[in-house]
Amino acid sequence: MISQISADLLKTELNPGPSALGKGTAVHRVLGAIQAKANKPMKSEFLQAMSKAANSVCVVTTDGIGGKAGMTVSAMTSVSVDTPRPSILVCIHGQASACDAIRTNRAFCANLLAEDQAAISDSFAGRTGKKGAERFECASWHAAVTGSPVLDNPLAAFDCTLVHDILVGSHRIFVGEVEAVRVAETGAPLIYFDRQYARATPQG
Ligand SMILES: Cc1cc2nc3c(=O)[nH]c(=O)nc-3n(C[C@H](O)[C@H](O)[C@H](O)COP(=O)(O)O)c2cc1C
Repeated sequence: MISQISADLLKTELNPGPSALGKGTAVHRVLGAIQAKANKPMKSEFLQAMSKAANSVCVVTTDGIGGKAGMTVSAMTSVSVDTPRPSILVCIHGQASACDAIRTNRAFCANLLAEDQAAISDSFAGRTGKKGAERFECASWHAAVTGSPVLDNPLAAFDCTLVHDILVGSHRIFVGEVEAVRVAETGAPLIYFDRQYARATPQG
């Protein structure tokens, strides 16, 4: 029952009617909290199961009037390619310091890390104690087309304009239309698996 109501409200958020915004969003938050409480017994099982999903690691950055910010993200994937411009999505906790900056700047860059860049991941996950623009001191950067910082030596980078911003419980799904890409000729990705960094080993 609660899931159905939340699903309906999520639809409302994706396609808000003339008077749905604001009021609908507040109701959605309340129901999201109720649902989170109902799901509490499953949370640790869910996180344990998710830890078995091996993911590549990105640092998502932004810069502009909303400020310069960045954070480590494993929830990044391709969305669409058969469109005038391809798109990707990143899922970011609503309390993360980069969240509001991305929403204000309407742009972000997903910097895909190489296997020897775990220290950059640690810095942008807050593990070195640094915050805000200080986190950028661990590497060399330049401005991408959107103004978002791009690493001088990423494995790949996707510089995006923010085109969709969807609240789902604790996280926001940011869909970005890709303005520019960079890709290294060689190198392997940094992997996060079983709550630790790992390497991708080709089977061929
Ligand atoms: C490997 C790794 C992957 C992560 N992936 C995500 C993610 O996909 N989304 C997210 O919101 N936080 C993710 N985090 C956590 C954030 O990087 C971390 O909470 C960060 O400190 C948030 O930024 P803040 O300290 O500026 O608020 C990840 C952390 C690590 C180490």
